[in-house]
Amino acid sequence: MKTNYKEALQHPIFEVVSRASEQLHIDSYVIGGFVRDFILQRDFKKDIDIVAVGSGIELALKVADLLPKKTKVQVFKNYGTAMLRFEDTEIEFVGARKESYQFESRNPVVENGTLEDDQNRRDFTINALALSLNTKTYGDLLDPFNGLIDIENKTIKTPLDPDITFSDDPLRMMRAIRFANQLGFDIETASLESIERNKERIGIISGERIVEELNKILSTETPSIGFLLLYKTGLLHLILPELTALNQVEEIEGQTHKNNFYHTLEVVDNICKNTDDVWLRWAALLHDIGKAPTKRFNKNQGWTFHGHEFLGGKMVKKIFERLHMPLNHKMKFVQKMVIMSSRPIVLSQDLVTDSAVRRLVFDAGEDVESLMILCAADITTKNPVKFKKYHGNFEIVRKKIVEVEERDHVRNFQPPITGEEIMELFNLKPSREIGILKEAIKEAILEGEIPNEYDAAYAFMMNKAQKLGLKINDC
Ligand code: CTP
Repeated sequence: MKTNYKEALQHPIFEVVSRASEQLHIDSYVIGGFVRDFILQRDFKKDIDIVAVGSGIELALKVADLLPKKTKVQVFKNYGTAMLRFEDTEIEFVGARKESYQFESRNPVVENGTLEDDQNRRDFTINALALSLNTKTYGDLLDPFNGLIDIENKTIKTPLDPDITFSDDPLRMMRAIRFANQLGFDIETASLESIERNKERIGIISGERIVEELNKILSTETPSIGFLLLYKTGLLHLILPELTALNQVEEIEGQTHKNNFYHTLEVVDNICKNTDDVWLRWAALLHDIGKAPTKRFNKNQGWTFHGHEFLGGKMVKKIFERLHMPLNHKMKFVQKMVIMSSRPIVLSQDLVTDSAVRRLVFDAGEDVESLMILCAADITTKNPVKFKKYHGNFEIVRKKIVEVEERDHVRNFQPPITGEEIMELFNLKPSREIGILKEAIKEAILEGEIPNEYDAAYAFMMNKAQKLGLKINDC
């Protein structure tokens, strides 16, 4: 087996770190994701972790000194770490530790150790691989836990007893699943069982860190793999109980409904083929969450989920709050997608009228394409006749969206006649009548009774105003 990886050390920073270490008489190594990804021939993420057997901060400062350009070093004294940017790469320096790692703990736990001590406290064998940056052994691989073999066998495994590794930082339970999903690896049985055993410990992890992992899972090609592992280990019940609540199929009087949990995962996988937008992927994940609390059985209609989209929209906000996700336009976007998620589907089942499409474009505005992507992904019927029909109708909807847009410009609808104009024309103070006229004009445009043009809107308005008994201001 190969033991030297000099060719991995092409980046100019390694030579500088090596020189700096020599001048300080300390050993240093590149460790973690950089080494793993080199061996896996994955793209370089522009993120390099250096471990120093000594002070990581001193090493970072020395490296900055030796760099040709003045370089700022960010020092995190409490954690004994430092970071600097070189070209477009972020380089993190840490001193080798003996005890519990800094990843989770807010407390500075700094007990200096050897390289092997440090490797011991890392999350997975594949992330504990280190390459020497010391002159005599430059490029040598240090792999005390056979991480290389685990890479070959596509295995995620903790270096120590998994209960210890996961207890050091419970987020690692999610990281195991995320890496399994990203890399197409399996989690070794003992580690997987340990996740099931320790799942409750995820409760001490901040929403932000959890979401970072969820985003990485959602950014893979097939997120269902990660979500099924989260489900199987019980983590998903704790993180997103709204989703696991969908995994219940009931039967009354011989009538069942589809399993909305597995359906959701299928929708998420589908959407990944057509968008990289992680927020649209979130919308796919959450589009049916309102179905568990709105589910009812009724003799005539069978199973119904009335108003699930609207309730789902409200639940989105609660989830975002609970997980400390941004409560900004991203949340609003996900909410809007969830609330509107059934609209194009309904269109695709019926005859597609111009006015229905116009209303869709009006309500979805800039996000109409995203909504169409979500709804196309939502077609998971296994009935080939229905599948073909829905997708066929979807194509008609898409074409009509373009036509209607060219003609009527309702996407970012600006009323052709403003409220101020109406006030002036009829000598009105702000009042109900203005709203009524504006609404009537908008409705007439959306219904296709008049084109979205000033003259047509003016004539329509005059007619309507007459019926309301309004008179033109003559002066
Ligand atoms: N690490 C760890 N426990 C954690 C986080 C990180 O042991 N909870 C260690 C691992 O050795 C990891 C390294 O720190 O390889 C760097 O962490 P990070 O940058 O988060 O992950 P990468 O492995 O680089 O992978 P990615 O960037 O894809 O997350």
